[in-house]
Amino acid sequence: MSDQIKYVLDEENIPKSWYNLNADFPTPMPPVLHPGTHQPVGPSDLEPLFPMELILQEVATERYIEIPEPVRDVFRMWRPAPLIRARRLEQALGTPAKIYFKYEGVSPAGSHKPNTAVPQAWYNKQAGIKKLSTETGAGQWGSSLAFAGSLFGLEVLVFQVRVSYDQKPYRRALMETYGARCIASPSNETDCGRAILEKTPNSPGSLGIAISEAVEVAAKNPDIKYALGSVLNHVMLHQTIIGQEAIAQCEMAGDDPDVIIGCAGGGSNFAGLAFPFLGLQLRGGRKRRIIAVEPAACPTLTRGTYAYDFGDTAHLTPLVKMHTLGSTFMPPGFHAGGLRYHGMSGMVSHAYELGLIEARAYQQVGCFEAGVQFARTEGIVPAPESTHAVRCAIDEALRCKEEGKSETILFNLSGHGHFDMQAYINYFEGKLVDQDYDEADLATALAGLPAVAA
Ligand SMILES: Cc1ncc(COP(=O)(O)O)c(C=O)c1O
Repeated sequence: MSDQIKYVLDEENIPKSWYNLNADFPTPMPPVLHPGTHQPVGPSDLEPLFPMELILQEVATERYIEIPEPVRDVFRMWRPAPLIRARRLEQALGTPAKIYFKYEGVSPAGSHKPNTAVPQAWYNKQAGIKKLSTETGAGQWGSSLAFAGSLFGLEVLVFQVRVSYDQKPYRRALMETYGARCIASPSNETDCGRAILEKTPNSPGSLGIAISEAVEVAAKNPDIKYALGSVLNHVMLHQTIIGQEAIAQCEMAGDDPDVIIGCAGGGSNFAGLAFPFLGLQLRGGRKRRIIAVEPAACPTLTRGTYAYDFGDTAHLTPLVKMHTLGSTFMPPGFHAGGLRYHGMSGMVSHAYELGLIEARAYQQVGCFEAGVQFARTEGIVPAPESTHAVRCAIDEALRCKEEGKSETILFNLSGHGHFDMQAYINYFEGKLVDQDYDEADLATALAGLPAVAA
């Protein structure tokens, strides 16, 4: 094993530290701005929402940040997550490419989300917090925070996007099994929820709205803090255990990926796999193709604008420079609920602007087709979000076949779809259709971006 990996993994192959790409970016990220003054935010501005340790991680520039032992102890429940070679899929495709996937569905909640839910819950517990509020789209993040809260004795309140709340009753039941309270968003429990319901009583909700509700609850109650499952720098940081393990596992397998793929909603599972590899490249290592895959119905990187924007619909959050479709943009209600977000992580957006990564957008029917092919060859039913990465990996493998190239492809299988079977039923019954976003809605949302001086 190389020194780089010996440094970051312990003898059980669990990372000792998180890797921070901010230490290696060739140019620093634009600062996060206060929504009122448009000046860079300081730690005290974020204190009503987050405990200080997480705020410090948000602005950290050191390359490695040690993972607290109690957090690593929880990680031992399912980590290291396996790196698997998809030989049967390779054979079915008849490709000379090698396909590997890092499988994050082995966590208790079934996705990569507990990788950040556990440290977030732990740091809040250390700061004496008793209750957390959050949002969830597909329900993966909500159930992950509910799980983490149950381990550390924290109450968890989850605003679940209405369309997912109705589509996925078993995710809600899972959150409740872990002891969380789950509310359909928009709800009557917050000012911003009530305002939206008044205007649009049948609103399907969105992650942007659910974030507003969860932030409002935390901002108004000193004993409640807010937890976010993606987008923020500290979430990207926590997810880098995926890529660090993958680098070591690829070394053990005697392989080195040429193409690295992850689906991207707010960007965290993609960043988790890609950033440690990108760090190697920025410190003089070889260049690999790194592809973020998003839904064509919510194409933040490929169609959005790189601008300062709010993270939520009601404009309660600070301004982050990111690829955005505009905070009022309402994506159609497609099945990959975890990818229905108007913005993208500032770190992922910065990497995209610097030309360090590529982005691609796919419609949902082709993604489900890939998910079914994957299930029938590798046995794992991917989460609807993860099918976007599967689709891209298959397309890259087919490109290798056409070009006669034996490249190595690595993708992140961010979660399993055991709670998403209604989406598969709809697919089999031919009810799943490709959905386009409304161009006029997008133009209106982009026209409403906050005016921030250059
Ligand atoms: C299984 C799965 N993959 C991917 C995502 C997208 O989030 P992110 O881009 O932060 O990884 C989600 C979000 O809910 C998810 O549940």
